[in-house]
Amino acid sequence: MDIRISPCRKLRGRIEVPGDKSVSHRAVMLGALSEGITEISGFLMSADCLSTISCFEKMGICVEANETERSVTVHGRSLHGLRAPSELLYTGNSGTTTRIISGILAGQSFESMLDGDSSIRRRPMKRIIDPLLAMGASVRSEKENGCVPLRIKGGSLHGICWRSPVASAQVKSGILLAGLYADSETSVLEPALSRNHTELMLKAFGGSVLSEPLPDPLRGEEKKKDRIFYGLSSETAGGWKITVRPEPRLTGRKICVPGDISSAAYFMAAAAIVPGAEVLISNVGVNPTRNGILKVMRAMGADISLSDEKLQGFEETASILVRSSSLHGTVIGGSLIPTLIDELPVCAVLACFAEGETVIRDARELRVKESDRIAVMTEELNKMGADITPTEDGMIIRGGRSLHGAEVDAHADHRAAMSLAVAALAAEGVTTIRGAECVGISYPDFFKDLDRLRTGC
Ligand code: S3P
Repeated sequence: MDIRISPCRKLRGRIEVPGDKSVSHRAVMLGALSEGITEISGFLMSADCLSTISCFEKMGICVEANETERSVTVHGRSLHGLRAPSELLYTGNSGTTTRIISGILAGQSFESMLDGDSSIRRRPMKRIIDPLLAMGASVRSEKENGCVPLRIKGGSLHGICWRSPVASAQVKSGILLAGLYADSETSVLEPALSRNHTELMLKAFGGSVLSEPLPDPLRGEEKKKDRIFYGLSSETAGGWKITVRPEPRLTGRKICVPGDISSAAYFMAAAAIVPGAEVLISNVGVNPTRNGILKVMRAMGADISLSDEKLQGFEETASILVRSSSLHGTVIGGSLIPTLIDELPVCAVLACFAEGETVIRDARELRVKESDRIAVMTEELNKMGADITPTEDGMIIRGGRSLHGAEVDAHADHRAAMSLAVAALAAEGVTTIRGAECVGISYPDFFKDLDRLRTGC
């Protein structure tokens, strides 16, 4: 599907974005492994989350979904109640489903096969295969290329202490959930704290999880620079250790999913760069392991204010008001990266409209997302007149030039599609986005919601 976007003269109003993708996936997974019923409200009805539901249905879990109410009821069958699937578990485009489910399957005594779409078939799975092998599971990449299809057979797992070279919540969560089935404690060490939804939710379902900051290995000037720049406290700069205890049972509960800050980010960015814009996004999850976009936009001079801040269950939420303002360049790197990893494509767009240079670094992970987001954002924004140089682990963006409409391609990446749409709003002339249907992965009504704000409703 091609979408044509003309420059935006007015962007005003209030919006509620759909439920958080990460929290929605985890609510289904933990609900399935619990005893009793888990009622989920505000569930994200998108292709990725439906892939998770479908995998658990194939393992005997009854899931009732009401699409218009955005509610899902999961009838849990306990930690040992999953049934051997009679067919392949298809995870579609979802890295979260693939990597976290691998951990759960490693704890099951039956054999299963996991596979996904062409993008998932290219994404690295060795990062989850290796720790699960170390725990004693049998995990085979069928094509021996470290990717899906994976054949997994679990059983008696040992607790391990695993140092993950990447700060990845998918990997961390897969290992922690396998740890529920192990014979002793399992720890994951990560270089920076990645999103902690699994830890928070596991505790809420009755699990035992401990998160500890590790001692700081940095010294001297580098340490000072890192601290000043990222606003880190001395306790967190050495990475984190997350430990889970094997669990006899989890108990189902009510989960209220907050709005997804990764989806809100497109409207926040649009409001910042469209002249005269003012947008209020209500009920957004602002978990500190996810809210890096707020810090970066503030560092760029954006006019952002938070209200109605509260704890919704175990997740922090707030309403976010963004008004148009003039932006300037910044540096985005270090421990901040995992807290806004999915927002970096739209940060690149913001940087095009900011005076001066923006440097995104330490973000090599962008190369192995749904697309190579460094290559894709560079190529497509440059077609619109941007001045971006890709680097090994990020981008250098020289902002302050006006962008013009162009024919661009989403490369089957939902976040690229929505980021390009934001750029198009503040460009001169019409932009056509090829393959824009991929927004259905995380935000099926994105273009509808954008239109509502454009007409000020
Ligand atoms: C996610 C973790 C992140 C993120 C993805 C969702 C999760 O991936 O990019 O969209 O829900 O755990 P990584 O774990 O690969 O960093």
